[in-house]
Parts: sequence; structure tokens; C-alpha cells
Amino acid sequence: MTEDLIKAAANAGKEDLYKVMLPQIKALVDGESDLIANIANIMAVLKESMNFFWVGVYFVKAEELVLGPFQGPLACTRIGYGKGVCGKAWQEGRVIIVPNVEQFPGHIACSSLSKSEIVLPVMINDRVRMILDVDSDQLNDFDAVDVKYLTEVSTIISDLFKATLI
Ligand code: SME
Repeated sequence: MTEDLIKAAANAGKEDLYKVMLPQIKALVDGESDLIANIANIMAVLKESMNFFWVGVYFVKAEELVLGPFQGPLACTRIGYGKGVCGKAWQEGRVIIVPNVEQFPGHIACSSLSKSEIVLPVMINDRVRMILDVDSDQLNDFDAVDVKYLTEVSTIISDLFKATLI
């Protein structure tokens, strides 16, 4: 019971942080058209506001995911289709939460300190064009609150991307 209450309090705190952060992101990219500059700043705001261990994007390029702007320790540069959590989220076009990375078959360990992970596809016209990846150094750190607000971030990134295609 106590554990449930502590978890609920932490989640409430997390939701408040997201609610403060999202308008900052929207304001930051308003009026700036450069995709990479915008994504780089979005990753910085996510890292600083939410205190994530690692946050970044991968671009779908031909048959691979290729590392884009990120914040945190160095990461693997290329990930194949269907490989690791990121490649799986690309293949299946859905959000994947991994409560314990050691229990995810094929997980790609960029840092041994990463313990749990959430990966979201960034879609344009029903196609995955990018992957948003967030790692935590705590087990079981992601839930429906993260899905809700990080999906909003992924939609913002998708809209920025779309604008560069026009
Ligand atoms: N763990 C990811 C690889 C990317 S890093 O976490 C930054 C995966 O299994 O796809």
C-alpha cells in the first residue's frame, strides 16, 4: 500500500513536470523552421526538465535507424529494422515500454546504466519516419503518463518534420 502511494505521488509529480514542459517546447519551436535545431532543443528541454538518463531520436534512413540529436551518454549510431527496442517500435509502428531492459530479448545496451526504456514512433502519413527513445537508470520508470505526454512530443516533432517536406 505504502509503495502504491509513493508511486502515485511520484506519478503526480511527473505529470506536473510534463505539464510545465510542454508549453515550453511549443514556445521554443514557434517561429523556427530548422528541423535539426528544433529537435536538438526539444531533447535538451526533455533531459533538463524530466531528468531522463538519455533522450534522443533516430531517423529512418533506407534500411536503418540513424542517430539524430540526443542528450546523455554516447549511443549506438545505427540500428537495423526490427533490432532492439527501437527497431521493434519501427517495425511494429507502436509505443513500446520496457520495464526491465535485461528482460527484453535483443535489447541493444548503449549504456550498462540504462535500466528501463520507452520508445515511440514518430509517424508521418501512417509511416514511421523517426523514433523517440527515452532511457532511465531506474527499473520500471515509464507508464501511461509518459505515453500520454511523450506522444504529444512525438506529434510536435512529426508536425515539424512535415513542415520541412512541403
Ligand atoms: N536500447 C535501444 C538502443 C538505443 S539506446 O538505448 C540509446 C534499443 O534496444 O533499441
